[in-house]
Amino acid sequence: MSITILKGAIVSAPALGRLETTEGGYLVAENGKIAGVFPVLPERYAGAPVEDYGDALILQSLADLHLHAPQYPMLGMGMDLPLLDWLNAYTFPTEARFADPCYARTVYRQLARELIENGTTRVCMFSSLHREATLILMEELEKAGVTGYVGKVNMDRNAIPALQEETEESMRETLRWLEECQNFRLVKPILTPRFTPSCTNDLMAFLGKLAAERNLPIQSHLSENTGEIAWVKDLHPDCGQYWETYQKYGLWNNRTLMAHCVWSDQRERTAMRTAGVTVVHCADSNQNICSGTAPVRAMLNEGVNVALGSDIAGGDHLNMFDVVAASIRASKARRILDGWETDFLTVAEGWFLGTSAGAAFFEASPGFAPGNMLHAVVVDDGGLPQPHSLTPAERLERCVYRRQKNAVQAVWSEGKRVFSNT
Ligand code: GUN
Ligand code: FE
Repeated sequence: MSITILKGAIVSAPALGRLETTEGGYLVAENGKIAGVFPVLPERYAGAPVEDYGDALILQSLADLHLHAPQYPMLGMGMDLPLLDWLNAYTFPTEARFADPCYARTVYRQLARELIENGTTRVCMFSSLHREATLILMEELEKAGVTGYVGKVNMDRNAIPALQEETEESMRETLRWLEECQNFRLVKPILTPRFTPSCTNDLMAFLGKLAAERNLPIQSHLSENTGEIAWVKDLHPDCGQYWETYQKYGLWNNRTLMAHCVWSDQRERTAMRTAGVTVVHCADSNQNICSGTAPVRAMLNEGVNVALGSDIAGGDHLNMFDVVAASIRASKARRILDGWETDFLTVAEGWFLGTSAGAAFFEASPGFAPGNMLHAVVVDDGGLPQPHSLTPAERLERCVYRRQKNAVQAVWSEGKRVFSNT
């Protein structure tokens, strides 16, 4: 049996708003699976090698449940248009470049490395519509140690000639992609109708049937922008609300991720809670392309599952520490807009959403629960000046908002060390 023992200031998020801290503690994994967090090393591990990180923080690694891999090259660009114009002007032409496998290889290798270096070990990711580039993305993530789901995007209408499929072609390529990606161990397929305006009814029906037959998860976009919502209403006059366009085709269940949900009212939120759909909150993107400010507190109060996404390149930060900070800031904007009746997200709550809530989509228990595979990040903050001696919770707060150069010391994903800067 292989034993991993990490020693340091261990901080985890076992429940929304709660942090558990063990300074000078031991995080132990047996064969990559967490056995526990201990203030004193149990006798049975005596003699096993201890990786001593001194006073550094040992945190859960982060989960990015919504990002667009082929938009990585345009990260930090083109934020002057609202969603639908932004897609046509910048996003679709950028994604069209991934018809070239060599280009895809170079970009995706860099993306996978940057994710790991920032402590993101779980993802749910959109590729482009290209089957070959999608397989390359899965390969590069797996090599780097990023785990999770990747979707070949389906889009057979309302795009640009360089980035659109015929309906039959989209179906055929999806089936072929599912055949060809069976041997990946850590990266699995997720069905990905881009959003309702991008998919004909025939394609939506095909994907819903496929999800049921093969028990596949589903990811898409929902109620991000008011122009988009009006368009969906025109496309599906029979559906009372946007979410019903997914439900109608079997794309609405407890393995469904819906990004944004900025304008989801109580009725739409109830439909999410009832079905067990997970909302992926993308605070940076919602602000950058002027979509709005999602009612995250209302979702949490109502018992809707919420996780976080960077949504690059609508979002301008790939680093999930920054995304946690952006979510907290967005919740404060919402509080201001709602007339101060809405509580903002605390740091502990934001941290839970970026770690445990995302990991829950992969059936991991919250925090460093025994039985979870080891997903952890070691962060050094010893080089920053301090106003006083900081508690572990204060140190985590500062890591969310500000990190020193090369702060990430080491990263574990699915039980294996995948990064070390020493
Ligand atoms: N809706 C459909 N496609 C996209 C996309 O690429 N980014 C965002 N933010 N919203 C979308
Ligand atoms: Fe998106």
